[in-house]
Amino acid sequence: MKTHGGALLSSIHIDRGSNRNISVQLYMGLKDLLLTQGIKPGERLPASRTLAAEIGVSRTTVVDAIDRLISEGLLEARVGSGTYVSDTLSKRPPKPARSPAGSAVAEPRLSHAAYHADRFFTPRDWLPHRAQPFITALPALDRFPMAHWSRISSRHWRGGREEVMGYGHPFGHQGLREAIATHLNAVRGIRSDPDQILIVGGAQQAFFLIASLLLNPGEHVWFENPGAVGARNAFVAAGADLVPVAVDAEGLSVEDGMQRAPHFRLAFVTPSHQQPLGHVMSLSRRLALLQAAEEADALIVEDDYDGEFYFGDKPPPPLKSIDTQERVIYVGTFSKTLFPSLRLGFVLVPRGLVDVFARVSAYWLSGVPTANQAIVADFMNEGLFATHIRAMRQVYRARHGALVTAFSALAGRIDIAPTASGFHAIGVLGPGLDEHEIAAQAAKRGVILAPLSRYCLEPIGQRAVALGFGAVGEDRIRQGVEALAELPALQEAEPVLRAMAG
Ligand SMILES: Cc1ncc(COP(=O)(O)O)c(C=O)c1O
Repeated sequence: MKTHGGALLSSIHIDRGSNRNISVQLYMGLKDLLLTQGIKPGERLPASRTLAAEIGVSRTTVVDAIDRLISEGLLEARVGSGTYVSDTLSKRPPKPARSPAGSAVAEPRLSHAAYHADRFFTPRDWLPHRAQPFITALPALDRFPMAHWSRISSRHWRGGREEVMGYGHPFGHQGLREAIATHLNAVRGIRSDPDQILIVGGAQQAFFLIASLLLNPGEHVWFENPGAVGARNAFVAAGADLVPVAVDAEGLSVEDGMQRAPHFRLAFVTPSHQQPLGHVMSLSRRLALLQAAEEADALIVEDDYDGEFYFGDKPPPPLKSIDTQERVIYVGTFSKTLFPSLRLGFVLVPRGLVDVFARVSAYWLSGVPTANQAIVADFMNEGLFATHIRAMRQVYRARHGALVTAFSALAGRIDIAPTASGFHAIGVLGPGLDEHEIAAQAAKRGVILAPLSRYCLEPIGQRAVALGFGAVGEDRIRQGVEALAELPALQEAEPVLRAMAG
């Protein structure tokens, strides 16, 4: 039997500056050599003492690595004769390793839905997380009552171990379901039973669950155009045929939907604060949509993501509050009312669907972390949630006021469209201004603008950007506008005076 000379073995590189233990590095190096047949099956390894000297490590280190490879079956110890490369490797030799650059990697085989969905999923390696001027989707993290949260959180972790650490109920923490039902009744005018409330990992998980439960590939989904990107992605991923339905000052145009796809299966709407344009859906549109759904035997998904933050005296009424036929699946999130990293949302499921949602959530999803749910339940029951929302209404009203005032310096180039709730507004661009160009120029100065086209399934002939005003204080809003005023694209533009409706 041939003995390996050790030239190859000495090619194993040990990095003494690495955090990785030397024995692990040696094990990985030897394993690579074995799998790529740098040492052939049946060959004998040099004695551990020789190896240790050649590689420059202690003998114990070599013995550790070899023992591990013996236990994995890649090496064999033969009594009185030494250590050999397993013959099994010659029977089914592993294929050469794929190049890290991916050149040798075959196209992954995707489902049809994922293959077709890919064009919607533009590269993005972050979600909004840094409080920068005009970032959308991020609430006022600077105003979150962290001391109360920490107090309730540490109290929770002192509870009974099984309750705190075991699997939670798959439909969600009962206390939270009850607190949500009470809140919906008191604040959003929605009558519900806690048994209809299903806790999920954020609204986005709700959209995926709804899409996978209720849609077959190719079925028509009315979708606001422009509309919410996350929900759109969930329906696209399910293989649904998304029908872009026009939006005007009264919300989704039911007439346009009927012309495009009268036999729709589902409609997705944001009636309290159209995402992203900010309109509140009129009562006549709400009634027309409910009737259209009734006629098509369709369901409606209502995403009430920020309806709690209205600037006037009265909240915008949810569609669900007038749904007498149980056609509306109402989705709520704590990402805006509390904070997004909670990953906590809920679905108010129509009675006829409760059993199937419950079964599926138990078998497909297995729940979300109990701690977050229990802490939020206490937060609600102690009145802190309602207090926080009331305080945030004032904060967003003030930040919105600062936004409108600061942007008046850019009148005719970026005009703020009126909005009465939430924490983002639309900035309509003057003629000749390109959304992508000014967004790119602004990003270089640390100011985030989201082009309206990002929200569109088909072009709508309006150039605008979405402007978040919730995440940063009034000073930073003013500084953001000052930075925008310096953009070459805006300096070159001729201001055009327009009357903004509203
Ligand atoms: C329209 C809309 N709905 C819901 C959400 C919340 O999603 P999640 O609860 O998954 O954070 C967002 C987040 O930005 C949103 O823009």
